[in-house]
Amino acid sequence: MSATIYTDSDADQTALDGRVVAVLGHGNQGAAQAANLRDSGIEMIVGNRDDEYLAPARDAGFAVFSIAEAARRADVALLLIPDEVQPSVFAEQIAPGLTSGNTLVVASGYNVAFGLLDVPAGVDVVMVAPRMIGAAVRTRYERRVGYPCFVSAERDATGDALRTALAVAKGIGGTQAGAVASSAREEAALDLFSEQAIWPAIMSVFQTAYQVLHAEGFSDEAILNELYLSGEPAEIFARVARSGLLGQLGLHSQTSQYGQLRGLGRLDPSELARRFTGVLRDDILSGDFAREWSAADPERRLAELRAHAEQHPLAAAERALLAEQP
Ligand code: NAI
Repeated sequence: MSATIYTDSDADQTALDGRVVAVLGHGNQGAAQAANLRDSGIEMIVGNRDDEYLAPARDAGFAVFSIAEAARRADVALLLIPDEVQPSVFAEQIAPGLTSGNTLVVASGYNVAFGLLDVPAGVDVVMVAPRMIGAAVRTRYERRVGYPCFVSAERDATGDALRTALAVAKGIGGTQAGAVASSAREEAALDLFSEQAIWPAIMSVFQTAYQVLHAEGFSDEAILNELYLSGEPAEIFARVARSGLLGQLGLHSQTSQYGQLRGLGRLDPSELARRFTGVLRDDILSGDFAREWSAADPERRLAELRAHAEQHPLAAAERALLAEQP
């Protein structure tokens, strides 16, 4: 399946004319998106609670209000606070200020996809989700190179939701490199899949490799440098981003290429496929993970899981080697 790609010429910034745009949360994404919107000529305000993010927003020259007041003033409200606090902050401080004809813009599909925001009737809901950390959303906008961005209209009460979404996307630089037509469900599912299927598998590969090599008598220094401490995998992934998984193979020796392709052909991916399908369907798309995470005490649960992971022998070897590094 191929998706529609929206570019700058598909976006009409006049969709925001005469509308108050509010960035709610001047954090990683909020600071970058607010600066980009202002440089795109869009008049906007910032909403932030009284914490360490407030002064930088004022110092940047924005009119800053409480989140509730900014939401009340907003015609277009960009929800840029952490996903895990959005449901309660939205219900208590933002929803009461939104009225029919307003637009709620989310930068991540999670809370919309899993029905965790109770958005007042008549309010459009759109997603403008940069696939980029906030600092680079700003620097890439300044360099006019853009970054990948997912866009969707989730609830079109006014008939103008997509037009508003594209105007916001263009304002933050998200259509410069082409924005992908997606959905909150797709964005959230892909994000969670990467986190819950792909990265645990990669971490498990490194843990298992360490145990096998350590048991065979290889030194921790040699093993960990071979695995990742040298930074070589980071170099390889930078090449993968430019030339593709197979395209970058030409940078390796023939022995290496032969070994990699021979090994790949001998692996049976069916067990991993079964596991990945289970994570996608049973944990993510079913909403089970979202329900579990909503019900959890996040700090305590994360501390427990981290403590368990720290017990793996690879973690101890890593700590010792990193402590020796200058
Ligand atoms: P962040 O962690 O930088 O958020 C800090 C901001 O949230 C500050 O303005 C802070 O005052 C406010 N905040 C924190 N807790 C609050 C609370 N309890 N009540 C009121 N305000 C509170 O957030 P980040 O990373 O910028 O994420 C914002 C949104 O952007 C999320 O939906 C996230 O999924 C999305 N996103 C983040 C990316 C990233 O690289 N950080 C990339 C793409 C999307």
